[in-house]
Order: sequence, then structure tokens, then C-alpha cells
Amino acid sequence: MDKQTIVESFAELSHPDVLETFDRASLEELVAKHETPFMVLDLSEVDYQYQSLQAALPGVKLFYALKSLSHPELIKRLKGLGSYFDLATIGEINLVESLGITGDRCIHTHPIKKDKEIKRSLEFGCTRMVVDNIDELKKFIPYADQVEIIIRVSFRSKQAVVDLSRKFGCSLEELPVLLDLAKQHNIEVVGLSFHVGSQSLSPMTQANAIRSSIAVMKVMNNVKWKFLDIGGSFPVSYQEAVLPIEDFCAPVMDALSELPEGVEVFAEPGRFISAPSMIELVSVVGKAKRGARTWYYLDDGVYGGFSGQMFDHAVYPLAPLKPFDPTGDFFPSVLAGPTCDSIDVVAEDIELPELEIGDILVGKKMGAYTIASATEFNYYPKPKVVVVEDIFDPDYTDV
Ligand SMILES: Cc1ncc(COP(=O)(O)O)c(C=O)c1O
Repeated sequence: MDKQTIVESFAELSHPDVLETFDRASLEELVAKHETPFMVLDLSEVDYQYQSLQAALPGVKLFYALKSLSHPELIKRLKGLGSYFDLATIGEINLVESLGITGDRCIHTHPIKKDKEIKRSLEFGCTRMVVDNIDELKKFIPYADQVEIIIRVSFRSKQAVVDLSRKFGCSLEELPVLLDLAKQHNIEVVGLSFHVGSQSLSPMTQANAIRSSIAVMKVMNNVKWKFLDIGGSFPVSYQEAVLPIEDFCAPVMDALSELPEGVEVFAEPGRFISAPSMIELVSVVGKAKRGARTWYYLDDGVYGGFSGQMFDHAVYPLAPLKPFDPTGDFFPSVLAGPTCDSIDVVAEDIELPELEIGDILVGKKMGAYTIASATEFNYYPKPKVVVVEDIFDPDYTDV
């Protein structure tokens, strides 16, 4: 490989921000204070992401999807910004309740629930719940006078990295049957929802799903439609470039302009808010030359903070913390996690400058579906989360 190709391939893996715009001195300070592996939750990024999305979706109520990252400081920050919350479990209800969030600011979007989960949601005051099939709707017959049902429809997307309409959502053809059953039992249906898939690379599936939902609302006009919930899916740039959020949302807003009057719009963003708000710092703890490649063993891997590489199909932008010459020598390398499992590899066949034991690597955009799905396999603890107000501010404070 010629040097230019090597530099380009490393640049592809490494986000230029890590190399160029990151304040290395602040990170060095954090490393001096905290033992790796650790993640840094930057609350100023939470503000930025939430406000950018709200600006791109004017008038849409944002229900933050806790499942992507449920750190209490992040939730408190979003509460302060006026966010609503998308919940899926009793654990998530307990968490938001403990932070002073009330049920009327939440929506329960898990389409499959145990009776005790329905009861807990109602007791919490969260009456808006999602169903996507007849058997689920029947579970609400005893609670007919207490709930507002949103029916989740499936719109498959080839553009989404994580296709969520494969597992949940009814077809448009099934809707009349569900609406009839609801009517027979006086269960109030108030809205439609969908989730076209997480990390959607094109907004057109969402825009088309909005148009189809609107057409259904107009045809089935015997229902008093109050809400259309357009789900999550808003993408962030990992290795791939994605549309700036205002461009991504423009066709979505265009489609929403056709909504019948009086229908409120909800969205359930997770990744877009949480992913850029967290980075991870890991150390090289071992090094071995195996064949043509150097293996670097890190103190965290796919069983820990990098779990999204397994469950979420994400590959995070990474770079060494120590300054390096992008036109200098690069070598074929492997970055491996610490566990005894051979699947625990964070990056294979990558070109890196020579690293030494003790060197630090920084992974960016590691807030969504990372610590949330991390395990403690091999009894390695999950990385701790250090909360800062603004990582770029030299006078940052740990919260
Ligand atoms: C019902 C529901 N809402 C919202 C989200 C968040 O989606 P995203 O992270 O793509 O914004 C998910 C993700 O799995 C989901 O299942």
C-alpha cells in the first residue's frame, strides 16, 4: 500500500475530529485523574444534539428513547431542556420516576407487554401505550377506560442499519381488524406509530411512512386521530458520512405538512442525542507481533463499551491520544479487547502508527447502544462513566 492510501484508510477509521479538533490536553487531564477504561459523557453535546434535532423538527415533540443510553445525568439534562421520554420497561419507568419525571411526559412504546408492565405504566401515569397485534390489544380490555392506544405499523427499510420493522409492527391491511376490536371494547385508539429502523441512511423511508400513515388517517376518519409517532432512526456519522440533520429532516417535515389538522407529531430519538455525547478512553495493555500484524490488547472491548460493534453494527471512529504524524509510518494492526474470547476484536486489518503499552486510544460517538448493552464477561467491570460539562472547556468540571 502506498503512503497516501494508508493515510486515507486510517483517516477513514479515525474521525478527523479526534485528530484535529479535540482538545488533547483536556483528555490528558482526564486520563491523569481516571483509570482507563472510562467513558466521558459530555452534557454540552447533549444540549447541542437535542437542540439541533428540535430545530430540524419544529413543532415535533421529542421523546428521548432511554434504551440507547440511560445515564441519570443525561436524563436530567434532557428533562431540563424540556424533553419527553420514550420508555419500554418497568426499569426505565422506575428510573425516570426517581428523577422527578411524570408519566404524562412519557410514552410506553414496547409493543409486547406483561400485564404487570401495563399496570405499572398506568400506576406511573403513562397512559399512552403502543400495540401492534390483536393478542396485545386484548390485554388492554380490562384497562379500556384508562389507556390511549397507539398502533405501531411496520414499514421495512433497506436503508436502515438496524431494521426494527422486521420484529414489530402490523401491516396497514391489519389495521381495520385492530380498530374494530378496540371499538367493540371501548378502547380508545389515538394514534399511529412506526420506527423505520435505527441509523437510517436515507430519510425517504420515514417520509414515505409518514405519507402512508396520513393517507390511512384520512381514509379511517371514524377514529379521532390525535398523534402520529414517527419513531427514531435519525443517523450519526460513524465511518460513513450522513446528511446533516436539517437536510435529513427536510423531507420528513415536508411529508408532515400534509397531516390533518389537530394531529400532534411525536418522535423517539435515541442514537442522535446519545451517540455523540460520549467518548471512551482505553489503554493498550499488551502488544504482540503475530505474522505481519501487530496485535494491541486493550483494556476494554466488544464485551464492554464496544458492545455496539456486536449488537448495533456500529464501528466507532478511533485514534491514538498521543499526537502522531498523519504522513508518518503506519503498520498493519489489530485492536483486541481484553477477554479470553477470540471474537473480542475491536478492529482488524487497520493501519496504525506504532503504539506502545500504556498508550491511550480514544473512541468517538460511543454514547448509543454501548454501555447500555455492555456485559461483565470474564468479570471485567463495565467502563465507568465520567460526566463533564464541556470537554472542550479547559475548566471543565466533573459532575
Ligand atoms: C420503539 C423504539 N423507539 C425509539 C428507538 C430509538 O431509535 P434510534 O436510536 O434509532 O433513534 C428504538 C430503538 O431501538 C425503538 O425500538
